[in-house]
Amino acid sequence: MAAADIARQVGEDCRTVPLAGHVGFDSLPDQLVNKSVSQGFCFNILCVGETGLGKSTLMDTLFNTKFEGEPTTHTQPGVQLRSSTYDLQESNVGLKLTIVSTVGFGDQINKEDSYKPIVEFIDAQFEAYLQEELKIRRVLHSYHDSRIHACLYFIAPTGHSLKSLDLVTMKKLDSKVNIIPIIAKSDAISKSELAKFKIKITSELVSNGVQIYQFPTDDESVAEINGTMNAHLPFAVVGSTEEVKIGNKMMRARQYPWGTVQVENEAHCDFVKLREMLIRINMEDLREQTHARHYELYRRCKLEEMGFKDTDPDSKPFSLQETYEAKRNEFLGELQKKEEEMRQMFVQRVKEKEAELKEAEKELHEKFDRLKKLHQEEKKKLEDKKKCLDEEMNAFKQRKAAAELLQSQGSQAGGSQTLKRDKEKKNWQRSGFDAYWPADRGKYRVTM
Ligand code: GTP
Ligand code: MG
Repeated sequence: MAAADIARQVGEDCRTVPLAGHVGFDSLPDQLVNKSVSQGFCFNILCVGETGLGKSTLMDTLFNTKFEGEPTTHTQPGVQLRSSTYDLQESNVGLKLTIVSTVGFGDQINKEDSYKPIVEFIDAQFEAYLQEELKIRRVLHSYHDSRIHACLYFIAPTGHSLKSLDLVTMKKLDSKVNIIPIIAKSDAISKSELAKFKIKITSELVSNGVQIYQFPTDDESVAEINGTMNAHLPFAVVGSTEEVKIGNKMMRARQYPWGTVQVENEAHCDFVKLREMLIRINMEDLREQTHARHYELYRRCKLEEMGFKDTDPDSKPFSLQETYEAKRNEFLGELQKKEEEMRQMFVQRVKEKEAELKEAEKELHEKFDRLKKLHQEEKKKLEDKKKCLDEEMNAFKQRKAAAELLQSQGSQAGGSQTLKRDKEKKNWQRSGFDAYWPADRGKYRVTM
């Protein structure tokens, strides 16, 4: 029998029976409270707003303490998120509070991607929780849940309308986090302007389809106050770390030459409304909404992306095992396909390379043949030349031999010729023509 059928049958068979005496399970709510108190609570706030809008001051004012944190400059190249966790204790209740604040938001010339680091941060916290949930040995009770429970969106007190950066960012965040918009430094705007500004912001949020967090009205005990407070959104707040003596009480306030703004005075600003709604009345609802709405949406999209479904195409329940196996088979099929593709590609590449090598080899052979032919021709030419030179040399030798022969014959005849010349010389000397006889005359010999 299917689990659903069994459950239906159990439900149908369920009867109400009276108890004869006190059993004790009426202490279950107390048990739950005690367990929760001993475990402690965690709450994570994200403050999104331009640099210097009073984010840190408001956190200090809300929790009545001084958290660490240096002011940032307006020269950040991009938006970053700075996260700090603190352990707080009030009566016997422990709270692990994480404050995440944007750094450099609204300081860049191009603000197109300013929302991205914020979205990525929120998703990263959901992903970490999902990974913990999917572990075989999960320890969710001691896991430090870093999912953002409330996003305080700080709006500059311009008195005009929302900046496009604010609208785009809130639109990108509204399906991921509980957005509570607040008008920061509201002491910088007059009462009548503030009322108009609130109306303008609300209408802009509605016309742009931005879903802000609505305080729940389904619980009777808080329905009325939450309903009233929903109409006051966005809260106009003032923060201060300065304490001023008013009457005989020390109060957080901001002092100006013309007067004092009391943070906790509801006639001066909505700080008390924000604290009531955020901490004293709806903290648990914010935690629950984060888990049941925003995380659930993230988880669903992520699991669907991974191939998990609740029902198969025939509307039958899909088992985890079947889904896993189907996904595994799909993955193996894809892997095989990829492997085959890679093999084909490899074979193709080898073929191409082989053809390239063959072509190169052919070219090399042709080049070799050409060179060989050239070499042979050159060799033949040289041999012909050598032959010619040999013939010339032989002819020369023959001529030389003949010349030597003639010379030797000539030298014998040369002796009588010299004598004849000496005689002529003497005759010339006598006749005074010696000066005309050349100095190197001795070397003139008749050789033939
Ligand atoms: P970064 O962290 O540097 O982005 O600034 P921040 O948003 O944390 O602002 P921070 O709290 O450091 O305040 C910046 C300045 O604004 C300080 O001088 C505060 O005293 C002043 N400030 C804070 N809250 C208010 C407020 O409600 N009204 C007015 N007028 N000034 C405020
Ligand atoms: Mg700060």
